Amino acid sequence: MHLPTLELLNASNKRILVRLDLNLPLYQGKITDLTRLQKSLPTIRELVAQNAKVIILTHLGRPKGIEKSLSLAPIADALREALAPTPVFFCETSQGPQVRDAIDALQGGQVLLIENIRFVEGEEKNDPVFIQELASWGDAYVNDAFSTAHRAHASTEGIAHFLPHYAGRLMEAEIKALTLALETPRRPLMAIVGGSKISTKLPLLENLISKVDLLVIGGGMANTLLAAKGVNIGGSLYEPDLLKAAQSLLKNAPAILLPEDVVVAQDLNNPLSYDVRALTEIQANEKIFDLGPCTCTLILEKMAKCHTLLWNGPLGVFEVPPFDQATNQVAQGAARLTRDGSLTSIAGGGDTLAALSHAGALQDFTYVSTAGGAFLEWIEGKTLPGIAALLQPFD
Ligand code: 3PG
Repeated sequence: MHLPTLELLNASNKRILVRLDLNLPLYQGKITDLTRLQKSLPTIRELVAQNAKVIILTHLGRPKGIEKSLSLAPIADALREALAPTPVFFCETSQGPQVRDAIDALQGGQVLLIENIRFVEGEEKNDPVFIQELASWGDAYVNDAFSTAHRAHASTEGIAHFLPHYAGRLMEAEIKALTLALETPRRPLMAIVGGSKISTKLPLLENLISKVDLLVIGGGMANTLLAAKGVNIGGSLYEPDLLKAAQSLLKNAPAILLPEDVVVAQDLNNPLSYDVRALTEIQANEKIFDLGPCTCTLILEKMAKCHTLLWNGPLGVFEVPPFDQATNQVAQGAARLTRDGSLTSIAGGGDTLAALSHAGALQDFTYVSTAGGAFLEWIEGKTLPGIAALLQPFD
């Protein structure tokens, strides 16, 4: 894949529209995690250093029209703090003459954040009229939002057809890491996929079995696969509609590692009543909430022989100890092997970062993607519209 990167852009004194993903988690109006913002800083700083007029576009949440609680005002404050002493202005509307005036007033080396771009109806519709308005705001477009590249919206896809376009540094890093994991990995390649539902991850599993040397499945989704193999899973949650699909997955997957023992309890609210069970011992009133110790040992033994690991999704209900043990032990094992230099470890998607961070293993992973849905779609083998648009030549 040949991405046009920032080396090709002469940004000096030009209006550069930069699509970021500053969709940060908020609680009662306060940002609770700045990772995505921090990872966006290298591109902004590089453009500021070139004396560009940096115009930032991002969404926050999934607003239906204008929703005050999804204003970017707190993000503007965080950006100002992170970039000080660079001047950062905030335009409180997302389209129209006020935006145009704010851009006209911007000087080289300054930054302007435009209010939540999803407040405009045309954004998610990839509306040609709105795309024209967006394109009139800049001289070039930089997409640094891998995590929104699965959306064909005006600011993530449409606009790239109307301006010279480039991938930002985070976009570049995400694509490099994921290509390394799936297209040109140091083999053997192990994938760990967890999470609660197999229904949301079936396409991902189907794509992975043709690429990896060993696929480890944990979390609630493993229950459906165990049931498909005829294991009595007691009162555990599973997806009966997917038993056939699970059976066909198992038939086509030569190298799949399923739980060999599990941690059960009658109720999540009473975690202290837990027990470890072999697969033949699960009682009708018990539910599986984690992988057992023998399975963890097996995963770690196999992992020690692998050179690349791709991880998505927790192995158990890690939010409720002691059902965090498998996730913790396997994540800490992966961190150790990565520190030793024998493993390249790449993780991303949904709950994964929270689970690895809970295990104290996040910092040691080789690469951790900031993306949720986009990470999963990439692993499914889908073409992401935001990336496809960047790859189109512009003349
Ligand atoms: C994300 O949080 O995964 C991205 O910001 C995309 O958000 P969306 O799922 O609302 O498009």
